[in-house]
Amino acid sequence: MPDNPVETHYTRNDLGEMILAALKAAGKDIDRLNPDDLAPVDEFHGGQRPATIRLAELVGFTGAERVLDVGSGLGGPSRYIAWRYGCRVSGVDLTAEFCRVAEMLTRVTGLVEKVDYRQGNALDLPFDSESFDVVWSQNAAMNIADRDRLYREMRRVLKPGGRLALQEVAAGVGGPPHFPVQWAREPAISFLLTPEDTRAKLEAAGFRVRTWQDTTEATLASAQARARHADSKPPPLGTHLILGPDWQAMARNSARNLEENRTRLFNAVLERTG
Ligand SMILES: C[S@@+](CC[C@H](N)C(=O)[O-])C[C@H]1O[C@@H](n2cnc3c(N)ncnc32)[C@H](O)[C@@H]1O
Repeated sequence: MPDNPVETHYTRNDLGEMILAALKAAGKDIDRLNPDDLAPVDEFHGGQRPATIRLAELVGFTGAERVLDVGSGLGGPSRYIAWRYGCRVSGVDLTAEFCRVAEMLTRVTGLVEKVDYRQGNALDLPFDSESFDVVWSQNAAMNIADRDRLYREMRRVLKPGGRLALQEVAAGVGGPPHFPVQWAREPAISFLLTPEDTRAKLEAAGFRVRTWQDTTEATLASAQARARHADSKPPPLGTHLILGPDWQAMARNSARNLEENRTRLFNAVLERTG
């Protein structure tokens, strides 16, 4: 088992086999898969594929960008950016099991020329300075306590003028979240900052805000729908495969945390200054 609690939280042994079995059960030909087939399971953040599309449109990719996905998970967003726009994308993630599954899913979708993964820590990114045009991250920072260092590392690997695209969960004023949630079963690995504190840390690290959108209200209805559906049998393919037996409690708590203003959601695109 992993030796750090965040990786332990996310690790599910045999996840790759479970996903392939679920794809078959969902009627997919696992020898002819494309990123759309995987989207119900490999887009592991609130709003799933539609949220990735919205953030990608905020960035406005041309296809020429070299992209780094920090906390890349199973690789849904990185494969989507490569497939839809033609960008060359690298992913880095703390969870070894996720990196293995991400590589497998990239092979079966025929995207290995465009996308690669490395196990590593966002606080010590295994990449040279000034190597990327866009650093992208969805729903990973809430597991990371040292935001100053995280944002410094993101800035370091960006080329001057490069952009940072974020989809984040932030702290609300209604008190701490109810647990378990998708990113933590207990408070010890959950590190939410308010949107204002997050923005201040990003600016202090050397970023200028281009776009900042609070997406809480827009996301609430879909979170509530997921919480209601948590009482029914899930479809074969979904993020419950990653989350494990307490996925229903997580879905209910996600909606409740938003309703009670314990969590806020935002999308942002920032630019490296200097
Ligand atoms: C909720 S998942 C999101 C995955 C992916 N971004 C997506 O949206 O599909 C959070 C991910 O952040 C990763 N993560 C958490 N802390 C990290 C760290 N310090 N360095 C790198 N990855 C980290 C976890 O391993 C996990 O894969």
